[in-house]
Amino acid sequence: MIRVRVPATSANIGPGFDAFGMAFELYNIFSFEERDTGKLTIRGVAKKYQGKSNLVYKAMLKVFNKVGYKPKGLYIYSDVNVPVSRGLGSSATCIVGGLVGANVLCGAPLTGQELFDLAVEMEGHPDNVAPAMFGGLVVSIGTREENFYIKKPVAPQFDFYAAIPDFTLPTIEARRAIPKKIYHKDAAFNVSRASMTYLALADGLPDILKESMKDKLHQPYRIPLIDHYDEVHSTAEGFGALGSCISGAGPTILIVCDKKNHRFEAEMSRWMAETLPQWQFLKLIPDNTGVCTDQHS
Ligand code: HSE
Repeated sequence: MIRVRVPATSANIGPGFDAFGMAFELYNIFSFEERDTGKLTIRGVAKKYQGKSNLVYKAMLKVFNKVGYKPKGLYIYSDVNVPVSRGLGSSATCIVGGLVGANVLCGAPLTGQELFDLAVEMEGHPDNVAPAMFGGLVVSIGTREENFYIKKPVAPQFDFYAAIPDFTLPTIEARRAIPKKIYHKDAAFNVSRASMTYLALADGLPDILKESMKDKLHQPYRIPLIDHYDEVHSTAEGFGALGSCISGAGPTILIVCDKKNHRFEAEMSRWMAETLPQWQFLKLIPDNTGVCTDQHS
């Protein structure tokens, strides 16, 4: 059996729309086996995801088609821990898990870059699949011809938290909310803040994050789709968080804190439990490794 562990990810991190992502120690684990049955068997997910439309399976087919491999039969098991449709990269875990699992299954003919290219092609933008593959804090560029990324480990100065709503927000809906055109001054606002956010998270510069995590490209249009966003954001700020933002396309809210803020976790957890008991509040530890595989019988 081949086992592939893929981290949850948070894309955008405020101003880095469709470019930044970070990986966390919260994992979906996929197991794969080629079987002589001639059948496709998918387990660990609801019945409606046990057929050929399963995203992990579709990702596997991409690899099999590219290298001309024909498995006799396939068994796929998904151990799902990343909340679905919440902006924590669950679909990226399926894509990366399927691609990497299929590649191992047929003798690893594809390189990491080739797998990354397939992942970007499937997801449409690189910001979740890049940290899911490579771990850490990743900035990436996806073009039709080529995809690029730069990865840095996340500086140890920060703590991260996710406030996860009890409702979903499909990415397609959250993307539809963004206008086709934006003002030049809004683009300029983001350029400096995105650059500084990346460097602040990589180099451990907490004070910069307070200003740099602001965004004018997507959050102003998406926040109205997320009930209680403003309350969570301002409460986190009141307890001394450095910044908070929509995780990916939402609705999860990612909160960044200085590790020296020893009271934040207890105070924010208490407020969340009293005010939004139906939400989940999780501490997230950065994963600087990315996708991992192992094989056992
Ligand atoms: N960058 C993407 C977005 C992440 O914000 O729509 C969601 O997949």
